[in-house]
Amino acid sequence: MPMQNHANDHTGMKLRAAERALELVEPGMTLGLGSGSTATIWIKLLGEKVRNHGLKIQAIASSDDSEALGKSYGIPFVTFEAVRSLDLTVDGADEIAPGLALIKGGGGKLLREKIVASASKRFVIVADDSKVVAKLGRFPLPVEVIPMSAPLVTEELKKIGFAPKTRVHQDGTRYITDEGNLILDCTGLLMDNPVEIAHKLDSIVGVVEHGLFLKMATSAIIASEQGIIERSS
Ligand code: A5P
Repeated sequence: MPMQNHANDHTGMKLRAAERALELVEPGMTLGLGSGSTATIWIKLLGEKVRNHGLKIQAIASSDDSEALGKSYGIPFVTFEAVRSLDLTVDGADEIAPGLALIKGGGGKLLREKIVASASKRFVIVADDSKVVAKLGRFPLPVEVIPMSAPLVTEELKKIGFAPKTRVHQDGTRYITDEGNLILDCTGLLMDNPVEIAHKLDSIVGVVEHGLFLKMATSAIIASEQGIIERSS
């Protein structure tokens, strides 16, 4: 799967953030499982608690990959047919700006991630400090679009000031999301007002969802070489 890679591997820091987030889990909770490398570490830690220590939880995943990983540890999964809200979701982020404004979707899972986040009482971000920015936009903002609309949406995104590029695999074939859509990765705009940008994106016909997660995260656990910082909304 193509990922918009961050420059460094911060596995140790990701692990420390994930360990801290695991402390938030209580027996009986319904959990949202995020996607990406940091969320994957958290799912593995959670899975070990379920498999080896009999922790009783149930979950909804934000991607096929995360669900398959959870199932491999015996985590029981439910759907929004059975539950309407989640006690806690833990997920990564590509950029974290003041006010816990986020860019997500570097791994292409933004649509289900946003659905899961929107249904969560607590939406906790786990990340290393390389994700912290003053303004969103250096990381390409992923916009998920219905395939037939891609040329039209591309034009609209350019009008906003973005330089959109269809996400492709290494062999040049187009990246298709879990829901069968395309991703346009948008560069070129450092966002002074992400709320306004989100509003514009929401109004483009053919856009299924975008990677701006605003006023959604309740807290962020950010690991650095110096230790862990927790930010709340
Ligand atoms: C997945 O689509 C993304 O939203 C991830 O949550 C985000 O890309 C962070 O991933 P890492 O933890 O791998 O940096």
